[in-house]
Amino acid sequence: MKEVLSITGVRNELSAVRARGELIGLVPTMGALHDGHVHLIRKMKEQASFVVVTVFVNPTQFGPNEDYSKYPRTRDYDRQICEQEGADLVFYPDVEEMYPAEQAIGLTIAGLTDHLCGKSRPGHFAGVLQVVNKLFNITQPDLAIFGQKDIQQFVLIDRMVQEFNHPIRLLIGETVREADGLAMSSRNTYLNRQERKRAPLLYDALTMICGKLTGHPELAVSEVVDEQERRLKANDLKIDYLSVVNFSDLQPVVHIVPGNRYIVAGAVYNGPTRLIDNLITDFKQIS
Ligand code: PAJ
Repeated sequence: MKEVLSITGVRNELSAVRARGELIGLVPTMGALHDGHVHLIRKMKEQASFVVVTVFVNPTQFGPNEDYSKYPRTRDYDRQICEQEGADLVFYPDVEEMYPAEQAIGLTIAGLTDHLCGKSRPGHFAGVLQVVNKLFNITQPDLAIFGQKDIQQFVLIDRMVQEFNHPIRLLIGETVREADGLAMSSRNTYLNRQERKRAPLLYDALTMICGKLTGHPELAVSEVVDEQERRLKANDLKIDYLSVVNFSDLQPVVHIVPGNRYIVAGAVYNGPTRLIDNLITDFKQIS
């Protein structure tokens, strides 16, 4: 496995790989790797002959009061995981390598960030698209994979690929969960014992909303969502959002139409830690 720190180094390695006719697959991460990331690497190994994992805690996607400085950095462990999973190259740039100067150009996003995480994390997705755009240009992969856990991120990257004509096929990796349903996340390491115990309630709430609206599609979405909000609050989880949105435009819906594609998504504060999760469903069967 090659470990590369510089953009020039990545370009040199990958141009040789490309010249051999290999299919390059990109797995972007911020490190602190867990089984969710491992799933993405494995899924990419099935599709691409040369797998590149990037590990970079991107400062531009963190708000001023967010956890950039305390975000877990576990470089040796991450290297071991990548090696064990058969990644071919790991790119660990530092901030100076990715942002050697003040960036004058940014992306603005219309509509797709009005709700869900976009609403409570202003600027977050502009930062995500900025760094993913750079990583795409640096590595020029044939394929790239992102997890369903960050579904708004996936939808936005998909739009960027279309609108900016990146010749990259995107894959989505389903959410990997702990045995009790909690979606794996690098931020789960922040949870104390009590917080960890109540953390799966978010997934439970999403599952209940799916189940109820599948059985009773005539109900107002707000009625079903409010019931679950009350349950979460009663268990000391502070709600950032709990909503049902269209898959295509991420706008909230008042009533569902079974057969259409929706996202049931939530974000809660569990103590100081913000946790997110979502399910994709057509309200005909729970996925
Ligand atoms: P990070 O949070 O490290 O996640 C890297 C990738 O792993 C993302 O595509 C994310 O959706 C996926 N992932 C996280 N938890 C998962 C789980 N439980 N199951 C399956 N996949 C999971 O997302 C980012 O980093 C950054 O925003 C990034 C895209 C790297 C840009 O900086």
